[in-house]
Amino acid sequence: MSAVTSASLCWTSLSLCFLFVSADEKIITAESGQNVTLTCRAPNNNIILVEWSRADLGDEYVLLYRDERFYPEQQHPSFKNRVDLQDRQMKDGDVSLMMKNVTINDTGTYECRVLTNRWKRAVLDVDPISVIYLRVVPPGE
Ligand SMILES: *[C@@H]1O[C@H](CO)[C@@H](O)[C@H](O)[C@H]1NC(C)=O
Ligand SMILES: *[C@@H]1O[C@H](CO)[C@@H](O)[C@H](O)[C@H]1NC(C)=O
Ligand SMILES: *[C@@H]1O[C@H](CO)[C@@H](O)[C@H](O)[C@H]1NC(C)=O
Repeated sequence: MSAVTSASLCWTSLSLCFLFVSADEKIITAESGQNVTLTCRAPNNNIILVEWSRADLGDEYVLLYRDERFYPEQQHPSFKNRVDLQDRQMKDGDVSLMMKNVTINDTGTYECRVLTNRWKRAVLDVDPISVIYLRVVPPGE
């Protein structure tokens, strides 16, 4: 009896640990001038909103997609015409970000958040589903 109880506690704490580390965290190093892809995959295809952000940019986004359109006016100027979704159709929930011609100023922590229509209601994953630390170094390092 007590063995069963501790087993289920163990399962409970295992699944909590699992949830805690479930965001896909990565470090990418690139040389300035390169193109990089920051990967992010939504749990399903019913994507209503995609937010790529970097904490130090305040209210401005790296890329914002909502209700079937992009919002360049809410994008930080340094990303204008330089970022796009790898697949604008977002096939299989792929909301990876392509960033062209990176500079040292692109160094930072990028977060991907997605709002999907699950179980017939909208659920915003407040926690990012992908967190990527991008480090850009001068060419030849
Ligand atoms: C980056 O992408 C652009 C356009 O997609 C391409 O013309 C360019 O050659 C790429 N640069 C590098 C360094 O791969
Ligand atoms: C890449 O960025 C650098 C610095 O911002 C700029 O001088 C250069 O023209 C850009 N290259 C391309 C291919 O856009
Ligand atoms: C990085 O940002 C600084 C300050 O905004 C700017 O002076 C500099 O030209 C930028 N460097 C590149 C490579 O874009």
